[in-house]
Parts: sequence; C-alpha cells; structure tokens
Amino acid sequence: MSASYLSVLKKSLTAPLYPESAWRILRPERFGPLKSAILRQFYKRGLAVVLREPYGPEVRAHGEDWPLFGYSMVGTKRLDNIETCLKSVVAEKIPGDFVECGVWRGGASIFARAVLNTLDETQRIVWLADSFEGMPVQSERDKADPALAGNAYLAVSLEDVKSNFERFDLLGDNVRFIKGWFCDALPTAPIEKISILRLDGDYYSSTMDALRNLYDKVSPGGYVIVDDYNACKSCEEAIAEFSAERGIVPHLVQIDRTAVYWRKPFVA
Ligand SMILES: C[S@@+](CC[C@H](N)C(=O)[O-])C[C@H]1O[C@@H](n2cnc3c(N)ncnc32)[C@H](O)[C@@H]1O
Repeated sequence: MSASYLSVLKKSLTAPLYPESAWRILRPERFGPLKSAILRQFYKRGLAVVLREPYGPEVRAHGEDWPLFGYSMVGTKRLDNIETCLKSVVAEKIPGDFVECGVWRGGASIFARAVLNTLDETQRIVWLADSFEGMPVQSERDKADPALAGNAYLAVSLEDVKSNFERFDLLGDNVRFIKGWFCDALPTAPIEKISILRLDGDYYSSTMDALRNLYDKVSPGGYVIVDDYNACKSCEEAIAEFSAERGIVPHLVQIDRTAVYWRKPFVA
C-alpha cells in the first residue's frame, strides 16, 4: 500500500503524468525591451505566452528541466534516493531530522515527509530552509554558473510552499520552515540533529553556507545529498573546498546525471 502511495506521489510531484508540464511560459524579465513590453501587455490581461517544449521522459527522470506544474524539479531518480536514504536511517536508527536547504515549491521535502509518515517516523522533523524569494545575487565564485537572481520562476513564497504541503495533507507540526538567506538564517536555526542534509541551493555560497552551518549536526552514518554537483561548477568546488577545510574525504556516490551523496563515517 505505502509503495503504491509513494509511487503515485513521485509522479504527482515531478509531473511526468502531464507532458504539458514541459511547456515553458515566456517571462518578460528574460527578454529585451520590445518583447518584454509585449509580454507585459499579455500579463496585464491575464494571458501568458507559452513555448510548447517537447516532453522528455529521460530529462524529467534526471531532473534536468523545470516543470511548469508539479512541485519539484529534482526528478524521480533523486526522489528514489531520498526514499532509500530515509529507509536506511530509519532501519539503522541513525538519529536526526531531514533538512533541505533550497526547496523551491517544496516537492522534495513533501516527499520526505510522506516517506517518514509511511515509516511511522512522525517524530522526525522535516525542515525547509529557503529565502522563499528566489536565488541570491551571484558572488564572484558563482559567476561561471547561470545567473538566476531575480528569476521569478525560482521565487516561491513561504505561504505557497505551506499550501503545497496542505494539498497533500502533509502540513503539521513536524514540518518547519527557516526563512532567510542561508548565511543569515542557518547559524541560529533551531535544528538539533540531522540524519539527512539535502543541499539544493545551486551556488558555491549557498552550498558552503549550508555545509559550514549544518554539517556538524549530521549524525555519524547520516547522509549529505548534493543536488547540483554536476550542474554547477561552483557547487562542485564548494564540496572540494569544504572537504579540504575539514580534512574529510567524502566517498561520493552518483545518484543520476547531476546529483551525488555521501555518508558521514560512523567513526571520525
Ligand atoms: C533549484 S531550487 C530547489 C529545488 C527543490 N529542492 C525541488 O524539490 O524542486 C533552489 C532554491 O534554493 C533557494 N536558495 C538558493 N540559494 C539560497 C540562499 N543562499 N539562501 C536561501 N535560499 C536559497 C532558492 O530560493 C530556490 O528556492
């Protein structure tokens, strides 16, 4: 029963049920003055111009496009990985909560809450950390990666993410939100112990801020998942630098074409 619930949930969250989810709304801020003025006129009248991109099952499974609807862009393989990691920490009694830094519409965390509930692990908290207003301005270290600050598509409000949890009947006291830039909000976040730390902030600074503030809270045997490892050069550099800084040699395991994870050793 829970296997079929989780399977349908994965499809609802990443939207492979609807090929039209590959369509893309042309947003005024992405164009020059003329096109942007025309698009704004459409917007004012409640209309949008949509590019009918073809749906690619492989692309979606690997989390390589941004679904127009759906609640997560991580793809099914990375949701499978969340399920596997959660089942592992529960079976092996690794203490701690699930934390995601960079949540967008909340889909990956919605899925984590559902998996924990099916395992009767309702006492473990699912924490969602995000600006809830999109990406930060790029630092010098992120300049080689795509400019995403100001991209309205990535700015999803806290209220919208809460309402997405409600749609799946998964909002409760064991789902908590940390609002703000990681560098400001994570140092004082009231998280005690982490069994799974999921990093999905794309950039060097976002990855580093999350690791520097939260890695020590990851239990031995816990997992660190890096969503953007092969997507953003600066994210890969952050992992290398943090590892050197801490004198650790993480054994990176590839999840799909983009994401990796490692397990914190049981003994230091
Ligand atoms: C790629 S999206 C996350 C995708 C999401 N995990 C999912 O399931 O689809 C990146 C998110 O990270 C957030 N973000 C990136 N850097 C951040 C930072 N330094 N502080 C706060 N939020 C940040 C953005 O607001 C955005 O919601």
